[in-house]
Amino acid sequence: MKPFMALRRCPSLSCHRAVAPLLLDFLAPSALRHRQYHATPSYQSTETVEAPKPKYVLNKKQREFLDSALRVNQAGELAATLIYTAQTPQVVRSHPHLRPLMKHMYDQEQGHLTTFNQLIAKHLVRPTAMYPVWEAAATFLGWSTGAMGREAAMACTEAVETEIGSHYNEQVREILLWEAEAQNRGEELDDELKDMLATLRRIRDEELEHLDHAVENDSKEAQPYDPLVDVIRLGCRTAIKISERV
Ligand SMILES: [Fe+2]
Ligand SMILES: [Fe+2]
Repeated sequence: MKPFMALRRCPSLSCHRAVAPLLLDFLAPSALRHRQYHATPSYQSTETVEAPKPKYVLNKKQREFLDSALRVNQAGELAATLIYTAQTPQVVRSHPHLRPLMKHMYDQEQGHLTTFNQLIAKHLVRPTAMYPVWEAAATFLGWSTGAMGREAAMACTEAVETEIGSHYNEQVREILLWEAEAQNRGEELDDELKDMLATLRRIRDEELEHLDHAVENDSKEAQPYDPLVDVIRLGCRTAIKISERV
């Protein structure tokens, strides 16, 4: 978090005042409310500086939304790395040409996990208490679909990414609503929240790219396709719901 100094025109006193350095953590909006002002000496320039827009302060419900979202995202990315770790040796043994693709998807999941590990540490978000259960479930899911063959492994990716992609999409949509509300009020989102929005969009697009790779690699040929995909999607939705709270 970069503190910054901003000059602001003070209409009542006809002077400029410097806003003290702020810790702009959008999950700790109290930092935004306790601004300290210091009058600058009168001999300094009175040239008008355009005032920055006020920052949009999240309410309790919005902070809780982000808290849950970051907890779920971090757990989901951990699960994704474990699924690929368990699938890859089995898939590439019989289909060596898939090694670069499996590595590419794993590397992206590892990058996502690092991102959310950093975000939950920075914003003091409690990780899910279900960690050991999700670790075991993800490893089992990866191992079992890998053992069923390439098509089943790809059907697993298709099912997981369908749920995760729409989960990220909901988060992007929600933050865009906040952005629209901020604009209506003549405010703007905190820079960190803007960065988070860009990160969520990028990760969503990468998840949907994995979904495309899975379909290109015959996920629809998995046997039995429908029950397998339905069960995995239901499992993902259940894990998301539980991790939002627990
Ligand atoms: Fe991911
Ligand atoms: Fe993914």
